[in-house]
Amino acid sequence: MQATTALLHWYDRNFRTLPWRTPPNPELSGAKPNPYHVWLSEIMLQQTTVATVKTYFIKFTDLWPRLENLAEAEEEEVLKAWAGLGYYSRARNLHRCAKIVLRDYNGRFPEEEHKLQQLPGIGPYTAAAISSIAFNQHAAVVDGNVERVISRLRAITDRLPGAKPVIKSHMAALTPHERPGDFAQAVMDLGATVCTPRSPACTICPWVDLCEGRKQGIHESLPRKAPK
Ligand code: ADE
Repeated sequence: MQATTALLHWYDRNFRTLPWRTPPNPELSGAKPNPYHVWLSEIMLQQTTVATVKTYFIKFTDLWPRLENLAEAEEEEVLKAWAGLGYYSRARNLHRCAKIVLRDYNGRFPEEEHKLQQLPGIGPYTAAAISSIAFNQHAAVVDGNVERVISRLRAITDRLPGAKPVIKSHMAALTPHERPGDFAQAVMDLGATVCTPRSPACTICPWVDLCEGRKQGIHESLPRKAPK
C-alpha cells in the first residue's frame, strides 16, 4: 500500500481525541473543523505540550466561545486566562490577531497560507497547519514531530535546520489533495505516539516496511542536528 494511504488508514483507527479536533475523514463523519478552534489550539501548542493545552483550550472556549467574543475581551482578561502558559507575547498576539480577523475579515480566517502568515503570531508552521486542518488546503505542515518522522522515513541525514526544506518537500509530496489536514495530524500523532525520539515502536508502525531509515539501521539517530 502507498505510504499516504497506509498512514490515513492508521489515523482513522488511532487518532487522538483532542478537544479542538473533529473526527477524521470529513467525508465519512460529516464534521467540519472550526477554524477558531484550530487557530487557538495551534497558537497554544507552539511552545506547550498537548496535555497542558487541553485544559487551557477548554477554559478559553468557555470564556470566549467565538472569535468575536475573544476580540472584544479586554487584553488584561486574556492575559489573566493565559497565566501559566508562558510566553505572554503569544497571548498579546492572539488578542491582536482576533481583533484583526474580526475587523478585516468579518470574523472569518482567510484560507490561504500567505494571508494567514500576515497575521500576528502566525508563522510558516501555524499558517500551514490552519490552512490544511481548518480549510483542507494542500499545505505541507512541518513541526518537530514531522521533522523526525519524515527524516526517518526517507533517511534524510542532512543536519537540521539546513535539512528543513528537503523535509518540507518530502512532506509536500506525501500530502494528499483529498485529506491534507488529516494527513498532517496523522504524521504529528505518529511522531508523538509511535515514532518517538527514543525507542520508537517500529513494530506497530504503519510505515515499518517503507522506512528507509530503519532499513539502514539509522532511524534512531535521525533527525541529525547541527552541533551546538
Ligand atoms: N501539535 C501541534 N498541532 C497539533 C495537532 N493539530 N495535532 C497533534 N499535535 C499537534
